[in-house]
Amino acid sequence: MKGIILAGGQGVRLNPLTEITNKHLLPVGKEPMIWHPIKQLVGSNITEIMVITSTHHMGDIVNSLGSGKRFGCNFTYKVQEEASGIAHALSLCEQFAKGDKIVVLLGDNIFEYSIKPHVQAFLEQDSGARVLLKEVDDPRRFGVAALDEKHVIEIEEKPAQPKSNHVVVGCYMYGNQVFDLIRKIEPSLRGELEITSVNNLYIQQRQLQYSFVKGRWADAGTFSSLNEANQLMLENDNRILI
Ligand code: DAU
Repeated sequence: MKGIILAGGQGVRLNPLTEITNKHLLPVGKEPMIWHPIKQLVGSNITEIMVITSTHHMGDIVNSLGSGKRFGCNFTYKVQEEASGIAHALSLCEQFAKGDKIVVLLGDNIFEYSIKPHVQAFLEQDSGARVLLKEVDDPRRFGVAALDEKHVIEIEEKPAQPKSNHVVVGCYMYGNQVFDLIRKIEPSLRGELEITSVNNLYIQQRQLQYSFVKGRWADAGTFSSLNEANQLMLENDNRILI
């Protein structure tokens, strides 16, 4: 099992803070944002980790994270030159994955509880992929999942009229097949290779499992959600609950 942290993009929604540094180094509680996904992976016994960054203050990211020694892991870095989408960023990791199962975390997602039980469930899964869901009040800025009793039937990216309040959070688990599926998708209207398109291909094959995350979750990509993530981590002293 290998870990991937996607920390590309320019963080334009957090300007002017992101004029000064990379979005993923902004403070969340007492630590830089990107420390959270690192600690989530290491806490799930995943220690081979690829970090995808943009060139935007990339030197600061490498200076802050180093080899991984201080976190008990080993980093490999790769640059995504343009913010061409989450699935595009993931496509850069094919050689690194070398056929292993992968856990992908978005560098701006903060989870109150450990993802370890979900990683365990995925390890026991024979094939396919696994996404994590959360019920939220305003689903419109996320990937929204329509569910029946056992399956995700469809995921819509940022729908104007969401079919449910269940959103797909930034933690995705895949087998090696994901790289073939990424080659099949087309850019969306916003010009990105969407991870939602990849997950919908898994749904068509009835190969997408899901579970719900426990506790609070924040995507720290906007000022208000950064504030939320900050509050959450300050309250918990940056500890991840088990
Ligand atoms: O936070 C969960 C949501 O993340 C999901 O519900 C959506 O389905 C998913 O598309 C994504 O939506 P966002 O619009 O919030 O993604 P955003 O563009 O903010 O990117 C999130 C992180 O992904 C960002 O911190 C860095 C990484 N990323 C993003 C893009 C577009 C990359 O590494 N490369 C990219 O090209």
